[in-house]
Amino acid sequence: MSQAALAPTRADFGPDFDHPGIDFDTGLDYESNRRARGTWEVTAVGSQRASADKGTREYFQQMRDYRYGYETPWIPEMFRFDQLAGKSVLEIGVGNGIDATEMAWNGAHYTGIDITQNHLELTRQNFEQSGLETPYRLIEGDLLTTPFREPFDTVYSFGVLHHISHEQRYLERIRQILRPDGTLMFAVYGKYSFFNAWMAATWLTRNRCRNAYDDWRSHVAELSPLGDPVTIKIRSRKEVEAGLSAAGFQVISYAKRGFVQNYLPGVGRLLKPNGWTLQTLGSMLGWYHIFHCRPEE
Ligand SMILES: C[S@@+](CC[C@H](N)C(=O)[O-])C[C@H]1O[C@@H](n2cnc3c(N)ncnc32)[C@H](O)[C@@H]1O
Repeated sequence: MSQAALAPTRADFGPDFDHPGIDFDTGLDYESNRRARGTWEVTAVGSQRASADKGTREYFQQMRDYRYGYETPWIPEMFRFDQLAGKSVLEIGVGNGIDATEMAWNGAHYTGIDITQNHLELTRQNFEQSGLETPYRLIEGDLLTTPFREPFDTVYSFGVLHHISHEQRYLERIRQILRPDGTLMFAVYGKYSFFNAWMAATWLTRNRCRNAYDDWRSHVAELSPLGDPVTIKIRSRKEVEAGLSAAGFQVISYAKRGFVQNYLPGVGRLLKPNGWTLQTLGSMLGWYHIFHCRPEE
């Protein structure tokens, strides 16, 4: 059934195993990983959205309701979870396992990798609470030091790559572990977005520039303590595309989403979270770039 494992080492695979791009021996630990652990080992992502005890069935239900009922209701459709049946999927950065269990419900053969024990444990608990009986795999570690025997049909990552300083090497590594006809699909933060403008405005008016701007943005967006921000990159579509192209990916579809009711005080709550108006605003000023890509031939 489930497996929660530490990242394998070279010894697990033997000297002849071919694993291009893996730094088994350097013992690397990147600055962004250290920062990420500093926040997310302590505070689970989005945990302010649930009042129930962490790890309980009710906790996951509340997290799920917020994610798919309010904040990002377009995730399952945008990422075509219903087309994942029978596919091997690697998720990078598992959070509370909401998307993990959703993909598994849709028949995906799920593997999740994360550098925090907190999120891996929450994802394991979520699988346990969900009653899913399909096997799944959870790996603690950095993608660059984790070997995989089989290539994946799909690599999925939501709201993670922009927190990784060595993101470009992640993209190159993803290219290696994807099937030639496989899909990389992910969401990262967008520069020209309502939320980014709001963070700039509150930095000027509420914070009065007392903290560094990155520190403030991380505090607001990720709940990191002021003074100890997580790495956070907020980019234009072109900037993200340049990285994809350099890693050998071709973009097959792009969309922008992530405009929620609260951005429009009063009138916002009259709008459907996944309705036409918020989707249209999201396509112009949404917080997330959404990419589907394939390895270039
Ligand atoms: C903002 S959370 C997003 C989690 C989840 N995908 C979601 O949408 O709720 C970022 C996640 O990425 C993980 N993470 C950060 N750096 C990572 C890395 N180098 N490799 C894998 N996961 C990483 C964090 O532990 C956390 O689970």
